[in-house]
Amino acid sequence: MSETVLYTDLSAYYDLMCADINYQAQSDCVHRLHQIFGNKGVSHLDIGCGTGPHIRHFLDHGYQCQGLDLNQPMLDQAQIRCPEAAFTLQNMCEFRIDQPVDLITCFLYSIHYTGELQPLQHCIGAVAKALNAGGVFCFNAVDKDHIDNQSSVAHSTHQDNSCFDFRSGWYYEGQGDQQKLRLSIRKTTNEHVECWQDSHPMVAIDFAQLTKMLDPYFEVTVLEHNYDTLQPLEVNSGNALFVCVKR
Ligand SMILES: C[S@@+](CC[C@H](N)C(=O)[O-])C[C@H]1O[C@@H](n2cnc3c(N)ncnc32)[C@H](O)[C@@H]1O
Repeated sequence: MSETVLYTDLSAYYDLMCADINYQAQSDCVHRLHQIFGNKGVSHLDIGCGTGPHIRHFLDHGYQCQGLDLNQPMLDQAQIRCPEAAFTLQNMCEFRIDQPVDLITCFLYSIHYTGELQPLQHCIGAVAKALNAGGVFCFNAVDKDHIDNQSSVAHSTHQDNSCFDFRSGWYYEGQGDQQKLRLSIRKTTNEHVECWQDSHPMVAIDFAQLTKMLDPYFEVTVLEHNYDTLQPLEVNSGNALFVCVKR
């Protein structure tokens, strides 16, 4: 099974799976962070953009947007949602854009899809290169040392005649540079049940290590993962919003 099979198979269900995510609040918050920390420019790139939900909101805030993703079916849906934006099929670990931009975002922990520490390092380097002076890189991440393997997030929703139950959670063995994103989907149509299970390898890192990796390129501020109020990261918190201003 190739690494993109999950999202290729699920691209039709992806927005349903994310139906409980407040994309507007996330986009508004990052727009605000860019106003506070950034260079006031309006060019934007979203890496690992998926079906483009954040890009839709950034366009509506007046940004000129681009998105990149490794999965063409996701990009096809993004292009329909955001006809004004430009999308390219690229790997976030080695991407290039024609002109540098003012804001680069990476939402829903997609930075962990870099998979290993070295590609993550390459991704950070590519982001720094693709930003204008004073530009902002904003993303969310989890600290491997604060993962609770028993914890998961679940929600259910209906579409047509089917009920969908989604569950996702992080799993970290306690050593090494890889963690897993475990995902399960259960689709019930009348008496008929279909299930999908996936365990996707993601890069595992702690926040001190990640900050050190970002530091040569960026002035880094680490905030609590809360899109409603901006607060510095608490000592024992493992879920953060990184705001990185290009040096
Ligand atoms: C969890 S989804 C998030 C999508 C979107 N950012 C959102 O918030 O709804 C992760 C996305 O990252 C993409 N992806 C995974 N690995 C990637 C890579 N190496 N380069 C670019 N995109 C990647 C997947 O195809 C998928 O669309």
